[in-house]
Amino acid sequence: SKGPYAHFMLKEIYEQSESVMNSMRGRLNFQTKSVMLGGLSEENVYTINSSRRILFISCGTSLNACLAVRPTFDELLNLPIAMENASDFLDRQPHVFRDDVCVFVSQSGETADTLRALEYCQKKGATLVGFTNTVGSSISRLTHFGSHLNCGVEVGVASTKAFTSQIVVMMLAVLRLSDDSRRLAPRRHEIMDALSRLSADVAECLRMVAPKVKALAQRLLDAKSVLVLGRGYQFASCLEAALKIKELTYVHTEGINSGELKHGPLALIDENIPVIIFCTKDAHIDRARSAIQQVRARKGKPIAIISERDEEVEAAADDIIQVPQTVDCLQALINIIPMQMLAYELAVLRGNNVDCPRNLAKSVTTQ
Ligand code: F6R
Repeated sequence: SKGPYAHFMLKEIYEQSESVMNSMRGRLNFQTKSVMLGGLSEENVYTINSSRRILFISCGTSLNACLAVRPTFDELLNLPIAMENASDFLDRQPHVFRDDVCVFVSQSGETADTLRALEYCQKKGATLVGFTNTVGSSISRLTHFGSHLNCGVEVGVASTKAFTSQIVVMMLAVLRLSDDSRRLAPRRHEIMDALSRLSADVAECLRMVAPKVKALAQRLLDAKSVLVLGRGYQFASCLEAALKIKELTYVHTEGINSGELKHGPLALIDENIPVIIFCTKDAHIDRARSAIQQVRARKGKPIAIISERDEEVEAAADDIIQVPQTVDCLQALINIIPMQMLAYELAVLRGNNVDCPRNLAKSVTTQ
């Protein structure tokens, strides 16, 4: 049931302070700073850590969740990490080896492209790992091991709480995989501390951004096209924000790595196109500030997502949405919340079918 909410999507957006907690329950011990994931036994951890590489293969929002955790897998593991869009992977039929670990991430566990890619990797003899939300789904049955998201049933076609729980569960996985490194202990503890505050941060974020986002939706209602910029940890955020906005509003929205701006996309900037830029605090903040200046210099009207007061960003931006600050590698999970809400508010204002956008299905079981 939708309870007091007008749509499942809104309910699922608001549920996230709870669902991220449910994804950690029984898995992360905040006191002893240890992670236990049912699927990641000692033997399975060894298999992954002694593999040739890790290949993440999925579609849509699930692929964006993989992209969101990629920098942390790069940082904490001594392995090459690759990301594959399942349909493109199938088109290319690339090399996969027996000592590869192929990770399939899927809310439904039934997405046809992801399943076909799994079968391809199975034939190559690779180790198959699954992160799905659906117990008994094809992907959870066909993989050698893995973990469930435990975020509860997601009804809205546009994925919200599954995205944030995918980030949480894959974060737990990388913490478990790196737990014998003493060198990495301070960083791992920093991430675990942030995970222990995550539910409260999500709740605070929902409170902080709601009125701002409603007002912004009114202003963006007539936009013909929207750009979303980010880089580093926020590259995944800009892709996922753009996916949410386009599927809910039917308005062309593009997520662009701001490092690519001057290689083409700058030509799109004028006074009419709304440009949302992630400027939350991390090692790339100076580059985010420079992106906002580049947009301003072309008469653009940037909308900045910030996590602490920032004079330069505030002076350059037309609009500011402030969110709580968490550890850099989890900030994407917080940053997506105002974007899910913006997509929702715009869809309602436009009279679109929020829980079932046109031409889309919850589980894409055809190729
Ligand atoms: C977007 C969305 C889709 C799915 C994609 C993969 O909001 O829901 O992009 O993420 O179809 O679905 P799963 O995760 O079930 O494999």
